[in-house]
Amino acid sequence: MYCGGVLQNCMSRIDEIEKEVFDRIEQTASVDDLEQISVEYLGRKGFLTGALRDISSLPKEDRPVEGQKANALKIKIKAVIEEKTARLQQICGTDSFGIDVTLPGRKISCGSLHPITQVAKEISDIFLRLGFDIAESPEVETDYYNFEALNIPKYHPARDMQDTFYVSENIVLRTHTSPSQPRVMEKTQPPVRIISPGKVFRCDSDITHTPMFHQVEGLMVDKNISFGDLKGILTTFIHQFFDKETSLRFRPSFFPFTEPSAEVDIRCVMCKGKGCRICSKTGWLEVLGSGMVHPAVFENVGYDTDTYTGFAFGMGIERLAMLKYGIDDIRKFFENDIRFLGQF
Ligand code: DAH
Repeated sequence: MYCGGVLQNCMSRIDEIEKEVFDRIEQTASVDDLEQISVEYLGRKGFLTGALRDISSLPKEDRPVEGQKANALKIKIKAVIEEKTARLQQICGTDSFGIDVTLPGRKISCGSLHPITQVAKEISDIFLRLGFDIAESPEVETDYYNFEALNIPKYHPARDMQDTFYVSENIVLRTHTSPSQPRVMEKTQPPVRIISPGKVFRCDSDITHTPMFHQVEGLMVDKNISFGDLKGILTTFIHQFFDKETSLRFRPSFFPFTEPSAEVDIRCVMCKGKGCRICSKTGWLEVLGSGMVHPAVFENVGYDTDTYTGFAFGMGIERLAMLKYGIDDIRKFFENDIRFLGQF
């Protein structure tokens, strides 16, 4: 039959397309491949688009039927591709904005306590277990409590030991936590057993000093408190804070508010006493100051020096934290670098 040529050709192409396109869609497992199929068949130069174009060369009476067939096929291909694309996107989790909703969620990072806060808490916990209470004391202090009450009169050379920030002639940023001693004793009768942690301020700045740092003060007053009690409490503290194997020594020293006074050294935590850069080759590290409360301090707060004796101590929290965790620069605590802080 004549016309078989074009008609046959065009019709069989549409049938062929119908036969193969759904197989291809069926076998496809990616959204990108589906897109490719859509272009291949429905795009401007696509197979079906070509077949549709060829319909115009068919005999007039055949055009409507073939046209409808081709258009119906076009709609069906489109619908099947769309449906499968949606299904794949759901399985693969890619929504229309290209966001992969199956990826693990962004972690909400959780804050933690600053290492200094953690170490302060650790120190406090040890003393709380030993029966001490916590007493707070002001950071902006009078010259009287910071110096005078602690047996450091004006022009006493001991004032030079601490570079003081003066707010006014008689008001300072406290240079140590020791003013908590007279403040507590003025308000309480013995027995006294307190620690007082907090910020202190000195005009000083290098790799081992910052203008603000933290100390913990300790004070124990009662009848018959001896240097043996001081040694016992501080040895227990060091063993609990570092470890039981840490040996320590009490080295004679001077503080105006204690007599006798002693500084406590521990065996170097880095070289275990062999001598290294950290301990300046001595094998020992100074960790705190201590001593028996000076009678002059008791007199200032109205305690009877015949009845009561006591000991006091003070330690730097940053220093203890640096030794415990092997940190060589105190400024790291205050730079707020999350990579550093996150390690604690
Ligand atoms: N207040 C001293 C300082 O900052 C440390 C200190 C030494 C505190 C001896 C004491 C003590 O209570 O008894 O250097």
